[in-house]
Amino acid sequence: MLFATRYAAAAASKRAFSTSVSQNAAKVAVLGAAGGIGQPLSLLLKANPTISHLSLYDLFNTPGVAADLSHINTTAKVTGHLPDNDGLKHALTDASVVVIPAGVPRKPGMSRDDLFNTNAGIVRDLATACAKFCPKAHVLVISNPVNSTVPIVAEVFKQHNVFDPRRVFGVTTLDVVRASRFVSENQDSKPEDAKITVVGGHSGVTIIPLFSQTPGLKLNESDIQALTHRVQFGGDEVVKAKNGGGSATLSMAFAGARFTNSLLDATVNGKKGIVEPTFVKSDVLANEGIEYFSTNVELGANGVENIQGLGDLTAYEHELLKAAIPELKKNIEKGYKFVHGN
Ligand code: NAD
Ligand code: LMR
Repeated sequence: MLFATRYAAAAASKRAFSTSVSQNAAKVAVLGAAGGIGQPLSLLLKANPTISHLSLYDLFNTPGVAADLSHINTTAKVTGHLPDNDGLKHALTDASVVVIPAGVPRKPGMSRDDLFNTNAGIVRDLATACAKFCPKAHVLVISNPVNSTVPIVAEVFKQHNVFDPRRVFGVTTLDVVRASRFVSENQDSKPEDAKITVVGGHSGVTIIPLFSQTPGLKLNESDIQALTHRVQFGGDEVVKAKNGGGSATLSMAFAGARFTNSLLDATVNGKKGIVEPTFVKSDVLANEGIEYFSTNVELGANGVENIQGLGDLTAYEHELLKAAIPELKKNIEKGYKFVHGN
């Protein structure tokens, strides 16, 4: 009798536990999941207990990647989808977060903008599918050139009357991950503790690290210039080292998982005070005619909750901003025109 009572209590507490787990559950779709970023990103996401269903879509190989990941003893169910049999529809239906690393990467000598002709169409078509099958999802764009692909997603969503600026994000996390790592090498400090603000966009001169905003750094002028250049062109270091084999994949997977996990913490787990940099529709540079910009953004239940401003800038940082504006404007307009055809 005592055993039965104890058993009933344990079963009730187990039920209570499973209820709370299923309440904090999210379906996350990765589009481009069989690629260089897609695979390690999916692996890292498989470890997040908030994800109840990880759905993997690519033009090939997702059944294999899904079968492999599905043997890992963490919460998420993993499914693999290909274009046939309405695969994209099944991958996206009920997704609350969609992460998009689909598209071609750079080779040495290329700029991110050189990827536009191939990736713009891929992102437009995937955004169209998101608008149809998961119009309320948060969409995280990794595919380059981010400065143009984010406006493409936004304009496609506007065409389908589903655009919510709180739910479309360009993933610029890798820039702060790099800044943090490079500064810690210079300062001989712990990389995890080096919190560096990076604003702007995600390509060359549009990436603007604001080292002056981290208290306690001991950087002279030439350190600041060298570190700024390294953060702006960190992607090129990897492209060059891979020598035709693509661009950053593993560090990007780390950065993409960090952003996705932060977003899930804010939107699903109700955590407060979560701040990540991200390229979103923003008024920060509205007076310059810039519609999308990356700054630190507080994430909340509905995605973007509070876009932080630029803060105080040094004269050098003002110069960086000045150099970024024309390039950023050009990139954003290019995305807009791709969708509207003028
Ligand atoms: P990859 O070639 O290794 O993988 C891309 C994957 O996308 C491939 O598996 C391909 O089959 C898939 N794909 C292509 N068209 C598709 C479609 N229509 N639907 C679904 N999947 C499709 O490339 P990668 O190294 O993973 O890089 C992917 C993208 O991410 C590139 O554009 C790269 O420039 C960009 N990137 C961005 C950042 C960032 O910080 N935002 C960092 C690194 C790379
Ligand atoms: C990066 O910053 O590593 C990515 O944008 C990929 C690239 O092309 O450099």
